[in-house]
Amino acid sequence: MGQTGGISEPEALETVALTPRIGSQVMVDKEALLSGRHAAQIRALLIQRGAVVVRGVALDDEDLRTVARTLGDLRIGSARRGADGAILSEGDGGVLRVTLDERRNPEYARFLFGNQLWHMDGTYEEVPPFATLLAPVRLSQRGGDTLFANTAAAFADLPEEEQRGLEKLRVVHTMQAALFPAKRDCTVEEFALWSSYPQRSHPLVWQHRSGVRSLVLSTSGAYVEGMEPAESHDLLQRLMIHATQDRYVYRHKWQPGDLAIWDNTATMHRVEPFDRDSGRELHRCTLNGEEPVTAPI
Ligand SMILES: [Fe+2]
Repeated sequence: MGQTGGISEPEALETVALTPRIGSQVMVDKEALLSGRHAAQIRALLIQRGAVVVRGVALDDEDLRTVARTLGDLRIGSARRGADGAILSEGDGGVLRVTLDERRNPEYARFLFGNQLWHMDGTYEEVPPFATLLAPVRLSQRGGDTLFANTAAAFADLPEEEQRGLEKLRVVHTMQAALFPAKRDCTVEEFALWSSYPQRSHPLVWQHRSGVRSLVLSTSGAYVEGMEPAESHDLLQRLMIHATQDRYVYRHKWQPGDLAIWDNTATMHRVEPFDRDSGRELHRCTLNGEEPVTAPI
């Protein structure tokens, strides 16, 4: 700890920008990360940079929970309800196995294929999760990179007149909108199951307490309320293409021992397709949201 006039200050945190507009790597070792002494700086960096990466820390599940708790409110139960009304579990004590292998995660594997399209987590909830932590257990030989897009930077670059127009709009998010594009050959029963999940309307532009404004974009965004369907489709598609241009995107190439954390409230993410039989598995902790999606006044 540095000392200034008897008042202790946090140690400087060494960070490296991974792209100009999104993503920073934090140079800390496992002990420092677990101690939580950089937690306030990592939180601030998450909000500034959208995604934060730490390499070479090799966290087990208990370590992952510990780091998550230094950064926010670890989600144990889920606000999301299954079709039968039961609350879906967030895995083992807040650690969810992200895998397509139904033997490793029977509850979620049948929905996780939707992760290959750009999305925010928890758009069906009134207060979407603040952040997500992801650590690899088994990686695929090919594919499987995770991509992050900065929806605050994408909004900031739009002409002011267009920003003012978008700030008045609301978008309805549905599970069938999120999953159908990833499985166009679904059965009637699958589509009916997705359609049975609750949907949620959010403002298209989020005025965060931090002062940042971001686009609330996700493949789950089905339509703009009160807009002609064709206009709504074209607008959401145009904004999605805008927000996922290379200049707003960081592509994370996983290495064993990595930890990636992202601010779910001002980014989207997706996983690049990978071999289903690869056994690829990452462990995820989710931090509960801290503010509802609020439109600018
Ligand atoms: Fe996700």
